[in-house]
Amino acid sequence: MQPWKWVTGLLLLISFSYSLHAQPYDYPTANLSTLWINDPSIITHNVSFLDGSSVRSILLRGSLGPRFACGFFCNRTNGACDSFLFAIFIVQTNSVSYITSPAIGFPQVVWSANRNNPVRENATLELTQEGDLVLRDVDGAMVWSTNTSGKSVVGMNISETGNLVLFNRNNSIVWQSFDYPTDSLVLGQNLMEGQRLTASVSVLNSTQSLLSLSVIANGLSAFVASDPPQIYYKRTSSRTKNSTEPSYMRFMNGSFAFFTSSSEPSLQDFDFTVPLASSVQYMKLESDGHLRVYEWGAGWKVVADLITGSILGVCGYPTICGDYGICSNGQCSCPRGIAGDYFTQLNARQPNLGCSAITPLSCQTPQYHHLLDLADISYFNYADDDAAVLKGTDAESCRDACMKNCSCKAALFQYGGNSSYGDCFLPSRLFSLINNQQEVTHYNSSAFIKVQIPPIAPSPNPSNGANAPLSFGKKKIRTAVILGSSLAAVFGAFLLICICIMVLRRKNGEREEEEEEDFFDQVPGMPMRFSYENLKAATGNFFNKLGEGGFGSVFEGTLDDGTRVAVKRLDGIGQGKREFLAEVETIGSIHHVNMARLIGFCAEKSYRLLVYEYMCNGSLDKWIFFRKYQKPALDWQTKRKIIIDVAKGLAYLHEECRQRIAHLDIKPHNILLDENFNAKISDFGLSKLIDRDQSHVITRMRGTPGYLAPEWLSSKITEKVDVYSFGVVVLEIVCGRKNFDESQSEESIHLLSLLKSKAEEDRLLDVIDKQDKDMQSHGEETMKMIKLAVWCLQGDFTRRPSMSMVVKVLEGVMDVEPGLDYNFLTSTRTAAHKEVDLGVSAPPLASVLSGPR
Ligand SMILES: *[C@@H]1O[C@H](CO)[C@@H](O)[C@H](O)[C@H]1NC(C)=O
Ligand SMILES: *[C@@H]1O[C@H](CO)[C@@H](O)[C@H](O)[C@H]1NC(C)=O
Ligand SMILES: *[C@@H]1O[C@H](CO)[C@@H](O)[C@H](O)[C@H]1NC(C)=O
Repeated sequence: MQPWKWVTGLLLLISFSYSLHAQPYDYPTANLSTLWINDPSIITHNVSFLDGSSVRSILLRGSLGPRFACGFFCNRTNGACDSFLFAIFIVQTNSVSYITSPAIGFPQVVWSANRNNPVRENATLELTQEGDLVLRDVDGAMVWSTNTSGKSVVGMNISETGNLVLFNRNNSIVWQSFDYPTDSLVLGQNLMEGQRLTASVSVLNSTQSLLSLSVIANGLSAFVASDPPQIYYKRTSSRTKNSTEPSYMRFMNGSFAFFTSSSEPSLQDFDFTVPLASSVQYMKLESDGHLRVYEWGAGWKVVADLITGSILGVCGYPTICGDYGICSNGQCSCPRGIAGDYFTQLNARQPNLGCSAITPLSCQTPQYHHLLDLADISYFNYADDDAAVLKGTDAESCRDACMKNCSCKAALFQYGGNSSYGDCFLPSRLFSLINNQQEVTHYNSSAFIKVQIPPIAPSPNPSNGANAPLSFGKKKIRTAVILGSSLAAVFGAFLLICICIMVLRRKNGEREEEEEEDFFDQVPGMPMRFSYENLKAATGNFFNKLGEGGFGSVFEGTLDDGTRVAVKRLDGIGQGKREFLAEVETIGSIHHVNMARLIGFCAEKSYRLLVYEYMCNGSLDKWIFFRKYQKPALDWQTKRKIIIDVAKGLAYLHEECRQRIAHLDIKPHNILLDENFNAKISDFGLSKLIDRDQSHVITRMRGTPGYLAPEWLSSKITEKVDVYSFGVVVLEIVCGRKNFDESQSEESIHLLSLLKSKAEEDRLLDVIDKQDKDMQSHGEETMKMIKLAVWCLQGDFTRRPSMSMVVKVLEGVMDVEPGLDYNFLTSTRTAAHKEVDLGVSAPPLASVLSGPR
């Protein structure tokens, strides 16, 4: 591995992204008969951001700091942009250029004209002679217009507050974007009665989803579209409205408030508190149903999450677990009957996408409809008093009502008080369900979900089939289920025999490789298998290289379903297919928020590829080692969060997952950051499984110089080598420099030696960059963090903490051990074995994914 290649690459990247524009800023107004072509050479301020998004601004107001602009916006993509919105966005500018550094902030879209119909390169926007603003795609098809021709428009401008306005000769507003909100509101904007914010499908797809927030005559309601709409949040005014003027919500500095009448603005009724704006703020209804307020301040931060007041808590959002998914404390599962499964997850690795019926409901055969009885399940629309179809009824009548109406998908029954009577809800589409915690909600609730059971039941789970009590009251179902169970038992036995045969064949060696692959393909919950051709296409013939490691290169790619991925092509892997598949199985079984997820793999001929989730902020090294070239990148809170994430990921690897795993190559290059700077550990390439019983079984040296624990010189290797490397990484994050940094003065080239000498002088804080005001201002916390690193760096590995102890220290429930030893580089337990010299040691020796097992 050649780190300097990396360095040059990144420098190039950084200098490219800082392309300056000579054109001064502030061009807020445009005249009639102006045509803009969505072409980078025609629109002056064509700027690409490091997150992959780009903007081509048409109007921009002001010249410093966060500013509103309108123009063509292309969302984060890989490679070339091919779909654009005409949008209003907030960008960071200095007097001559857009600031593209990710540490400063990506463009934030607050309005768009064509969110459901993006246009392509060379599309046009025209403010016509007649005063109409028209957006046409490249083929000339009209996509959107303000329909203002003949209304005496004389020009267009963007206001200080982010309103795009077409005005007439008297400077009065003829058309304004504030009247057509999409999913966001800016400070000073109203949401009028009848208007709504509608969330996008996802961060990357701006198409309208089913979730909306709308102002009604007496309040505010958030709902998911269905027939009828299902409300998940509602707040109403206590005042009776006696004006015919429309009510509205106003987003002001410090609050989001409801007014019953615009002519009596003093009649504010209820409001949500929003932290006072110290800078630009906007609020957005997001694809998860939350209404979040963002504020600028050295990055965009969520400062408020407004519609969570509901008693339903984290689970009270319609799409949190997809259709039919059951949410318990944010975890998703599918409904299960006592006699078997009637639902499967749409995607086993993404349970939050929801569940689908194994046998779909059919209105042609209502005689096969039955109700699956689930106790202690509630539903988000209990938030809406008017949603109950029947009130003060009993559960039996509720079930009957649902059975009689084919469009009813479930009978949801909420008991009132201590009686057996209550309210009955009959939704025509079933979104996420909630595992009801009676201690919290203080009510009983049951769900009866409609399922289709054809004469022969779908194969129920054999383990708890035949003798279990049935959830259906009807005798013929009982027979059907018993019959089904017997069939399933026979089927199960058959399956077992098949598996035995497969396993025996497997033992017969490589000749049966095809069968072996098929066997592997069927292991549920395993990573997807891709063909080489698939991955070649997904990466555009391995076009965009993200990085290079000791054993292969990583490329950016996009799967057929639009998922962005990082594809690692392993070079010169000496492993057979079986070892590789075993490795994939291990890596694929690791599921943790702080571990990069393996989506799939390819093992074809001699090709070996791994497909990982894509992390748009790349690896940590480029955020901490190149500060000289960009603004202070990560603030202290972000750094701290990254350290905690990495600690949690490692604690999981070492102590919680099924097999104890040592990573063996922890370094900033292997720590990836997502768009919110959540850190995930990647590259188990060098990882070595350690059986829980044996604590050290490694036979050859691995890892990267600079991060290697001293005991590598002996042969006692445990997961504590990761703790040591973690200590180095923490120091590098805190100090913003590499452990070995040849650009430093002679005595500080080696950070650990520097730390040791500063410790002897009792001036530990000297190791932190004097220039970094943010770090300096957190002196005490920084000090604690350095102490923690020192604990992790103990030469005697038995004195290092376990990763779970590290997590406890970071969470403040435990203290760092006193009496630390600053002699990091010598292992007090070193055995004989000294032929490897650390300083000149070769790059990582690994040529295999992991060692023998
Ligand atoms: C919001 O109000 C606070 C306190 O009155 C003030 O300091 C701040 O500048 C205001 N923010 C904006 C964006 O007007
Ligand atoms: C409510 O639930 C509790 C505990 O599950 C149960 O003991 C009680 O009988 C239930 N009440 C009604 C009215 O069903
Ligand atoms: C059946 O249910 C749907 C939706 O729940 C409702 O709109 C419709 O009026 C019901 N039909 C009858 C006949 O009750």
